[in-house]
Amino acid sequence: MKITAISGSLRARSANGTVLRTALELTGAEARTADIGSLPHFNPDLDGEGAVAPAPVAALRSAVAEADAVLIVSPEYAHGVPGVLKNALDWLVSSGEFIDKPVGVVTASPSPSGGDFANAQLRETLRMMTGAVVDDACLCIGLIATRIDQGTGRIVDEATLGSLSASLKALESAASQAGCEV
Ligand SMILES: Cc1cc2nc3c(=O)[nH]c(=O)nc-3n(C[C@H](O)[C@H](O)[C@H](O)COP(=O)(O)O)c2cc1C
Repeated sequence: MKITAISGSLRARSANGTVLRTALELTGAEARTADIGSLPHFNPDLDGEGAVAPAPVAALRSAVAEADAVLIVSPEYAHGVPGVLKNALDWLVSSGEFIDKPVGVVTASPSPSGGDFANAQLRETLRMMTGAVVDDACLCIGLIATRIDQGTGRIVDEATLGSLSASLKALESAASQAGCEV
């Protein structure tokens, strides 16, 4: 099984990056992380019939198309989805890689609510794109700084590790029911 992960934070010391790496360590699936930081701003003029997709766009589309499931891990910015992540999703609307694709959405934030606005918005956008949003794979992780050992930069909180593990299991189960080989 192949999982492609996408982080909504470009920050080098991103807490969501830590969550993403931990989640991928918890799965037995073959995992890769797609680069969205070098995508151009979405412009329908670059995406119409006969247009050749810019190289970073083509790479993102392949990374999602080749995956049996996609895991999105993101912060919340101003009660919304970070622009860099929404931009990436906009490039995937008309090309269709998300159609019926099992997808989990994890948001992590220092606030207790764990980025629940961004989580809900991402799920709505992905459903509109006819992705197969796996509710049991979606998670809001609040108080994220308290769950990471600041020395090692690793998640040490057992409850968080348990929730992430359950999310990944739900995502893998949805992907195997969708017909991929485990
Ligand atoms: C522009 C900006 C807007 C933010 N807005 C929110 C917000 O609406 N809700 C929230 O919980 N945290 C918000 N935060 C705090 C982020 O959750 C926090 O910086 C988090 O660590 C960012 O994720 P990262 O560590 O993965 O980069 C915001 C941070 C920035 C930089």
